[in-house]
Amino acid sequence: MEDVISRIPKILNSARDTAEKIQNASDIERFESEFFGKKSALSVLSKQLKELPADQKKEAGKAVGALRQQLTDLSLQKKKELAGAMQKQKWESEWIDVTKPAPANCGSLHPISRVQERVEEIFQSMGFAVADGNHIENEWYNFDALNIPASHPARDMQDTFWIQRKGDNPNKNFVLRTQTSDVQIHTMQEQGAPLRVIAPGRVFRNEDVDASHDAVFYQVEGLLVDEDISLAHLKGTIETMLGHLFETDTCIRFRPGYFPFVEPGLEVDFQCTLCRGKGCKTCKQTGWIEFMGAGMVHRNVLKNAGVDPEKFSGFAFGFGLTRLAMMKFGIDDIRLLSSQKIDFLSQF
Ligand code: DAH
Repeated sequence: MEDVISRIPKILNSARDTAEKIQNASDIERFESEFFGKKSALSVLSKQLKELPADQKKEAGKAVGALRQQLTDLSLQKKKELAGAMQKQKWESEWIDVTKPAPANCGSLHPISRVQERVEEIFQSMGFAVADGNHIENEWYNFDALNIPASHPARDMQDTFWIQRKGDNPNKNFVLRTQTSDVQIHTMQEQGAPLRVIAPGRVFRNEDVDASHDAVFYQVEGLLVDEDISLAHLKGTIETMLGHLFETDTCIRFRPGYFPFVEPGLEVDFQCTLCRGKGCKTCKQTGWIEFMGAGMVHRNVLKNAGVDPEKFSGFAFGFGLTRLAMMKFGIDDIRLLSSQKIDFLSQF
């Protein structure tokens, strides 16, 4: 009996030492097989118990039973500690800061804004100011002052959204401006001559929408008024602007064109930058890209805006910023530009 009982403290100490080092589930398994397995000291003691004489069995049995209980408690305690530690680790790894801003995609400039910014920079470097205009415009600024009276057939060239607002004078008509040319009149009235200005902005036409037409698009208007201005100044200005925009020398050509607010009026083409005039899909095999309308400001327009046509002359031009952006970025459907599709917009 002495033999059995005297070994108990050593077994207990060794179990405590081993339990101390338990870190994970497999350490627990090892502990259990070491202290409760078939070859464990406990199992050896249990066997020896059976061989003891009956009068000693009781006391020694109690001692071995107490050892079994202590070892079991030790194992349970360790299991509990381990489960707690694992739960804590899980919570820590899953912790999120709910006050942090949600991850967001970085925005970028719209392709039209990008081209507009570049065009503005280039004209500003040539001394042009940048002016804003009104989207809702008095009929007089959009048409009459630009030498397009009500009876003029040129009014039919642009399908117009007419507007009648509550409280408007019924004799005065308003439109969603069909062209940025209205800014010519405002700036001449406000600043007089000499003057150099461009006016990028939205225009509106009552058109059927398809891949190349939208009811809302962007134009850039240009106006330069000074003494002794000629078409040569217009040519130099446009060549310089396109050269900077395309970062290569760009050839332009004038064709006669009709716009009531200029005389003579011109259509300006530039040589296709892709095929360099040889003919390709983009220029429809012509070697040229139609770019803008332009001309020498009509004396009626100067007069309407309060500028003396005897003293001053000027050139004006207008081109489609939307079309230019589509060409620059190879966008083949105008509707994409107003689609607000992230897949499309995030490319720029
Ligand atoms: N406003 C014209 C249009 O929308 C473009 C234009 C042509 C503007 C000739 C001009 C110009 O200033 O001189 O089609």
